[in-house]
Amino acid sequence: MKKNNIILIGFMGVGKGTIARALVKESSMFAIDTDDLIESMENRKIKKIFASDGEPYFRNLEKKTALWLEGNVKNTIISTGGGFFKQENIQNIGTIVYLKSSFEGILKRIKKSPNAKNKLNKRPLLKNKKDALKLFNDRNSQYEKVANVVVDVENKDIDLIVKEILGII
Ligand code: S3P
Repeated sequence: MKKNNIILIGFMGVGKGTIARALVKESSMFAIDTDDLIESMENRKIKKIFASDGEPYFRNLEKKTALWLEGNVKNTIISTGGGFFKQENIQNIGTIVYLKSSFEGILKRIKKSPNAKNKLNKRPLLKNKKDALKLFNDRNSQYEKVANVVVDVENKDIDLIVKEILGII
């Protein structure tokens, strides 16, 4: 089956969800988000899952989600949690687009948002800035390696990002 899915990967706060919603408006595709799927599967927030059951438990839910996506989803823009790119079967789900920005660019974007506090609060791995920067540095090249397409999103208007992605895929 040709799936025609687009998978948006990238660091926390880079704008995967926002870009997915903007892409939907400009295409005939649907959108789903892996963190949303996990939250509805578990009937609780990501923050709660991390706090009560820990990160390995959450990663296992991501694995389950990846397998479900591979078997069941097509014509969909899939926004993902920042660590979802590690799923072994990700290449079988669709075209992988890495939304790239510097760490400073991401922090700037979060700070600008009207609900900045909530954005920081709901992400357990963003709590400590030093640890988050380390994670960012570790992951940067890994995102590039797994991606089929890299789109630089820093300081770019959302319309332009959408245009670029639709032009590439
Ligand atoms: C994570 C990113 C989060 C969420 C979880 C873990 C990560 O998603 O999946 O807190 O490992 O980078 P966002 O990238 O949407 O913040």
